[in-house]
Amino acid sequence: MIRPAAAELVAAARAARERAYAPYSGFRVGAALLTSQGDVVSAANVENASYGLAICAERSAVVAAVAAGSRSFQAIAVAGNGPGPVTPCGACRQVLREFPKGADLEVLCAGETGDALLTTTLGDLLPESFGPEDLAGSGP
Ligand code: THU
Repeated sequence: MIRPAAAELVAAARAARERAYAPYSGFRVGAALLTSQGDVVSAANVENASYGLAICAERSAVVAAVAAGSRSFQAIAVAGNGPGPVTPCGACRQVLREFPKGADLEVLCAGETGDALLTTTLGDLLPESFGPEDLAGSGP
């Protein structure tokens, strides 16, 4: 991904934080997926009075993108509270692993403001991962 696009993707993730529904934790997270077609799909975390049902911003973005017809992603940006980069939780790493770029997905982790940016890949965040190809030859 070229660098201006990275800045735009982080900006989209930060803008999505405004739409977070996080009355219990106060931790507002935004995520923005860059699809293989070049579209940006952004979403935020959605919490629930039954705390364990909270849905992370990254998974919200995946669901929104798939529902809109995109299943192939180049990169994701994530932004949370505070100045330091927020990285995707373990469950979100596995969900992101499902799609064609797999471990090569670029992951941009940012804070609420500032220039601190952790640029990594899903493979670095989730080494030796399990994915759809591991099911090849199995099943009905
Ligand atoms: N959260 C995310 O949306 N993404 C992450 O990568 C980490 C955590 C949300 C879940 C919950 O609503 C709040 O942050 C506190 O954990």
